[in-house]
Amino acid sequence: MTRCVRVPKREGESVRSALFSEGLLDLGARIRADGDCLLIPVTCDSYQGYEVVEADMAVQEQRPTDYRDVADVPEELKEHLPSSFDVVGDVAMIKLPEELKPYAGEIGEALLKVNRSLRIVFEDHGVKGDFRIRELERIAGTGTSETVHKEFGVRLYTDPSRVYFNPRLSSERARIANLVQDGETVIDMFGGVAPFGTVMCHLAKPEVVYSIDLNPEAEHFARMNAERNHIGNLRPMTGDSSVLVHTLPMADRIIMNLPQIADRFLPVALSRLNHGGTVHMYKIIEREEFPGFLEGLVEAAARDGHSISVSHSELKTYSPTMSVYSLDVLKHRCRSRRGPQVP
Ligand SMILES: C[S@@+](CC[C@H](N)C(=O)[O-])C[C@H]1O[C@@H](n2cnc3c(N)ncnc32)[C@H](O)[C@@H]1O
Repeated sequence: MTRCVRVPKREGESVRSALFSEGLLDLGARIRADGDCLLIPVTCDSYQGYEVVEADMAVQEQRPTDYRDVADVPEELKEHLPSSFDVVGDVAMIKLPEELKPYAGEIGEALLKVNRSLRIVFEDHGVKGDFRIRELERIAGTGTSETVHKEFGVRLYTDPSRVYFNPRLSSERARIANLVQDGETVIDMFGGVAPFGTVMCHLAKPEVVYSIDLNPEAEHFARMNAERNHIGNLRPMTGDSSVLVHTLPMADRIIMNLPQIADRFLPVALSRLNHGGTVHMYKIIEREEFPGFLEGLVEAAARDGHSISVSHSELKTYSPTMSVYSLDVLKHRCRSRRGPQVP
């Protein structure tokens, strides 16, 4: 018997590619259908709350499944080969420790050899600047870093060297899209290539989604994503969202995926949110500081005259002591009893 996660078919490709890039896909067994779901073999005990089952699975044709088994690097360095790497579409990005840098080409070729869906491999020198763009250096394969990521029936065009994009948030994007009521006005304050907006407009019926980003390249890809997915109600914009939101209609839903500092933008988001509306915010923080952080949010909102309640979940661990949290901040219909402070 093989351990599998049971995933609705429409989420299958996103979950498979996320498991693959996190090194959690069991490549020794074949994925198969089970009613409206797919059974995806895994090497972990649980994954993002999906049902875990033991099932009879056909054996996958035996060929090397781990690039570390075929990478042509000195034996004594093999223990330093990273166990995971990032994949967006057909592009892989891998961080290499200093001692492996002379073998970057061999490592890239090994990744291409083992993972047939990859076209090109880059050494990842990290995320830089306000635009959160990756500094990439090609180590194997052909073409550019522009690629297409597929999830929930949409094709998201992106380029990790020109604009930020996180393929691992696919379940979160679908979760939020499923909350959207017909006719809502939505603002994504840190929209990137508009993955939240594109998935939402595909799966739900908002009146309009404004997707703002400081990076002009983000608007270029967001427009392409709207056009190629035949979406007419997505409005990509370039600029500082804390300024641009004041030029837009009041929103029923606001997304803030800037997890290092999104909370600094919460006062302006609440000021542009209709009563009964929700801000979806992401935050990276020390786990032990999180309860105090939540209390602080509610108190600060009350000082501005907003009554809010916050539900949250821990999306993933970020470091041994920090996590990424997803927060749904509901703005109540009545004003806070404490009201704004009078000078
Ligand atoms: C973590 S990325 C999120 C992108 C997108 N929501 C996604 O999930 O792929 C944060 C984005 O916020 C943008 N950004 C940072 N500060 C901003 C600001 N003041 N106004 C608008 N966009 C901003 C960056 O350029 C970056 O693309």
